[in-house]
Amino acid sequence: MSFFRSDKLENVHSDIRGPVFSEAMKMTAAGINVLRLNSGNPPIFGFKTPESIRSAIMDHLDTALGYCDVKGMPDAREAILKYDLSKGMRDVTLDQIFIGNGVSELVSIITTAALNRGDEVLIPCPDYSLWTNATWIAGAKPVHYICDEQSHWFPDIADIRKKITPNTRAIVLINPNNPTGVLYSKDILEQIIAVAREHNLMIFSDEIYDRLVMDGKKHISTASLTDDVLVITTNGLSKSHVACGFRCGWMTVTGPKGQYDDLLDGFFQLCSMRICANAIMQLAIPAALSDPESTQAMLVPGGRLYEQREATCRELSKIPGISFVKNDACFYVFPKLDVKRFNITNDEQFAMDYLHSKHVMIIPGRGFSWPQPDHFRIVMLPDKDKIAKAISDLGDFLSTYQQA
Ligand SMILES: Cc1ncc(COP(=O)(O)O)c(C=O)c1O
Repeated sequence: MSFFRSDKLENVHSDIRGPVFSEAMKMTAAGINVLRLNSGNPPIFGFKTPESIRSAIMDHLDTALGYCDVKGMPDAREAILKYDLSKGMRDVTLDQIFIGNGVSELVSIITTAALNRGDEVLIPCPDYSLWTNATWIAGAKPVHYICDEQSHWFPDIADIRKKITPNTRAIVLINPNNPTGVLYSKDILEQIIAVAREHNLMIFSDEIYDRLVMDGKKHISTASLTDDVLVITTNGLSKSHVACGFRCGWMTVTGPKGQYDDLLDGFFQLCSMRICANAIMQLAIPAALSDPESTQAMLVPGGRLYEQREATCRELSKIPGISFVKNDACFYVFPKLDVKRFNITNDEQFAMDYLHSKHVMIIPGRGFSWPQPDHFRIVMLPDKDKIAKAISDLGDFLSTYQQA
């Protein structure tokens, strides 16, 4: 008698931990030192969570021993409310805020509670597979809209409009974006809000990288630009406060008051099934949100993330056959390969060949639902000399590479 996974998982994919990852793990087990540029996990590259967070947890541990409120600890939700208001969201109250075990858990809660079978959700392409997978599992259908590399990877509004059907229920925005690393302008956000308004769509705005913006640019929360469109904003501490393992995220629901009470009840139903989110990490939220300086220090000249981005882009720009849009934020870039030059027809094979040759793991574009074999994502988290060496090794590898 054999047992099989549920049909619900039929379309679920996660190439960030897919075949290239499995091969890299085998090589590691065989004693080969592989540089892992596959996942945005800052602590494994020596980034430290700020002292403010450590002491907030250590000093108040006893207050996190019991189950806490289903929606999250009051102090933590107060801090999130203050943060949301500081980002320009209007008319937010504590009722609209839910804390979860990372944005990942909240995405499942959002898609499960807000979507019906057959609903369609517009998701950026390249995507971050969490949103696509959660949409499938919720019984709905992801429909990918193109982000246009020629226009700073901004969502292509004409493509979004073309893909709207009577079943479309929501648009996902990831801003700043994973995997492209770009920050969206006010104008593009307003255009997306206008489409949502016109077609009565919800916007799911994933803003987990909003505190990781460089070059003096300013992140604009989608929800700060509208009072009449339903926006569910997700955010968390994994990246900005180097706390991926804490599983600490939250969501804020904003929009036309009185028109989404039932949805809030649905979120509450699902949140109460797991009683509460991990309470220890909630102790960190007030401390983290009143400590923007620790994050900022990494993003200015001399700071780790800034210097790593500069080193990555400098080395990438030296490689014939690669072009890219320099990232404004976070720690990702999604370069393009001249496939004719390298005879590349299979991006996974390209990533595998680079792994075998230089012991560096990258994720091919297909891991982000990118349909052509001509992109890959780099995670620029190793220190600047190490990442510069990995990229210069890539140049070396490509100088003779021809896919068989
Ligand atoms: C766009 C995006 N959303 C959500 C997540 C997951 O965040 P969390 O650690 O809070 O589950 C990630 C992690 O890489 C991400 O890139």
